[in-house]
Amino acid sequence: MSGARLLARLDELARIGPIDGGGSCRLALSDADRDGRDLVVTWMRDLGLDVVVDAVGNVVGTWSVGRGQPVMTGSHIDTVRTGGRYDGNLGVLAGIEVIETLMQAGLTPPRPLAVAFFTNEEGARFQPDMLGSLVYVGGMSVEEALDAPAIDGPRLGDELERIGYAGSHPCPSAAPHAFVELHIEQGPRLEADDKRFGTVTGVQGISWQEVAITGQSNHAGTTPMSLRHDPALVAGRIVVFLRDLATRYGGDQVCTVGKIDLVPNLVNVVPRSATLTLDVRNTDESTLRRAETEITDFLAQVAADEGVTISTRRLARFEPVVFDNRVVDLIETVIDERGHSNMRLPSGAGHDAQMLARVCPSAMIFTQSHLGISHNPAEFTDPADLVEGTDILLDVMWKLAHTEFSAHAHEPAIGKP
Ligand code: GLV
Ligand code: MN
Ligand code: MN
Repeated sequence: MSGARLLARLDELARIGPIDGGGSCRLALSDADRDGRDLVVTWMRDLGLDVVVDAVGNVVGTWSVGRGQPVMTGSHIDTVRTGGRYDGNLGVLAGIEVIETLMQAGLTPPRPLAVAFFTNEEGARFQPDMLGSLVYVGGMSVEEALDAPAIDGPRLGDELERIGYAGSHPCPSAAPHAFVELHIEQGPRLEADDKRFGTVTGVQGISWQEVAITGQSNHAGTTPMSLRHDPALVAGRIVVFLRDLATRYGGDQVCTVGKIDLVPNLVNVVPRSATLTLDVRNTDESTLRRAETEITDFLAQVAADEGVTISTRRLARFEPVVFDNRVVDLIETVIDERGHSNMRLPSGAGHDAQMLARVCPSAMIFTQSHLGISHNPAEFTDPADLVEGTDILLDVMWKLAHTEFSAHAHEPAIGKP
């Protein structure tokens, strides 16, 4: 394995869409995303992989050896606006490194190996998140995906055409033999527990909605407080309500308002409208549903209290996912065999592996994230962990290629991770 080659590629990709602090901004289907895609496709082609682009722009590079369906790895190369260097990129470039290493060593697996990058994993520019992998497994129609509007206006389908990634391969695709994704943890748990790697048992449930509040725009100096119908106040009350809800629930409950837009957004005008996003997650589906019900009731109450109207729009909703025990056990065995400390944990972030889990045995490997910082250019993982994590991925893919899964044993992967 060439750690130097892997790290050099991570650096080269990070320099596309550079932002202050050493991170990247490659919002899905932007010019920077196109340039990143072109670079990764070049690396795939240089290796002699068969590169296929599907109808929603997912790209799969396959080393077509052996027989049967491929063992697939991969992740995404789109980023949030303040992306770090590793989120997604590691899983894709590690997959290329695994294949290149095996080729150079003259080791041929008994079935194909594939490395993929999926469209719009982040969900920052188009919703839902994990859109490409969701369509890949048949969880959303191509037509619906192509119609998804960007936060800056254009349709996903038009942006795919514009950047040259509207492929012809149909979706859904045939299920791989198995899927494994290497990713940084993006949270603090491994580092805090002094465990070098994580075996990911599943992914928590995700509920995203957009809340649009309409009130009465008016003069900031002349309008008595008692006569106001102020969307900014209501937005603030929602933010505080969500924090209180997460505190009351405790455990794995997290709530975030990451985006608020006021109109007209001026110092001396009571706003006419506020639009905000709610990101609510829990590993337990029934608790997540209870949170959603409480939020709905609160929105009705606050609208009545403040004399505003509130409408909501669903952006994403995914139940918690449990990964396949056989792949989870295999990952744990490999980490153990390689002499590293390991922890089983659920993922707080969404991942393409949670979609692939619908159609084939799937799981993930986590590396530590320094201080748990992610979606931030300060995201950092020790280079030695990036390289060793890729070696673990290689061993896991090799073993998966030699593992036959009984046909009936792939259960729907819903539950509490
Ligand atoms: C994707 O990165 C998410 O979990 O928001
Ligand atoms: Mn990611
Ligand atoms: Mn991310």
